[in-house]
Amino acid sequence: MTPSFWWIVPAAGIGARMGADLPKQYLELAGKPVLAHTLERLLAVPGWRGLVLALSEDDRWWEGLPQAAHPGVIRCCGGRERGDSVLNALRVLDGRAKERDWVLVHDAARPCLRVRDVQRLLAALADDPVGGLLATPVRDTMKRADAEGRVAATVPREALWHALTPQMFRYGVLREALESAAQAGAGVTDEASAIERLGGRPRLIEGHDDNIKVTRPGDLWLARVFLQAQSEEGA
Ligand code: CTP
Ligand code: MG
Repeated sequence: MTPSFWWIVPAAGIGARMGADLPKQYLELAGKPVLAHTLERLLAVPGWRGLVLALSEDDRWWEGLPQAAHPGVIRCCGGRERGDSVLNALRVLDGRAKERDWVLVHDAARPCLRVRDVQRLLAALADDPVGGLLATPVRDTMKRADAEGRVAATVPREALWHALTPQMFRYGVLREALESAAQAGAGVTDEASAIERLGGRPRLIEGHDDNIKVTRPGDLWLARVFLQAQSEEGA
């Protein structure tokens, strides 16, 4: 039995690195917008109680997506940084979510997430005191650079992981961690680092490495290949 939970989806970015004429979450991927793929997968995971989507105030595209009419999707305003968008979405759950409810935060720009990876995350962390995140082990030899672009050190890769999403934490603790990081002006780039800031030690749950974040133009092509491969293997 996996626990019930809330989805939070930050989708308020502008996609500067993609350099397209609309935010990357609305670019076409295998016949529909990136965000439509992402939401289809999230809504297919059994056990969710509601999904809060953080959108930019300037968003002109959301209403055109089929999920805009979904009764389980609650929209809210995004913030300056990703963490601000997530915090706004958490505030929307005030009075709806209980302190100990699980919240899963997933980037709008990760359309290749497998439903089964989410189910593994939920099952692995259901009784965990802290929570955790999907992650994949680093494969390449890692180098630390100096100011001149020369190798300062080789970093042992055995203990290094790529942090992916979803990231799964309890509502009360996550909100406190993100409020505290925002107040301190500590730029946290994911939920886990906000939890770590307060001394928590999130668990790393290995996921598939096709769960990429569409970031640069070439990533759209890669995502298309991954979606095709997943549908061929029935994932
Ligand atoms: N995001 C958000 N609010 C922000 C910034 C980002 O909700 N103020 C979301 C993005 O829409 C994306 C996710 O957070 O789904 C991950 O961020 P990232 O990949 O950095 O997206 P962008 O910020 O849009 O891209 P870039 O950094 O290239 O501008
Ligand atoms: Mg960004």
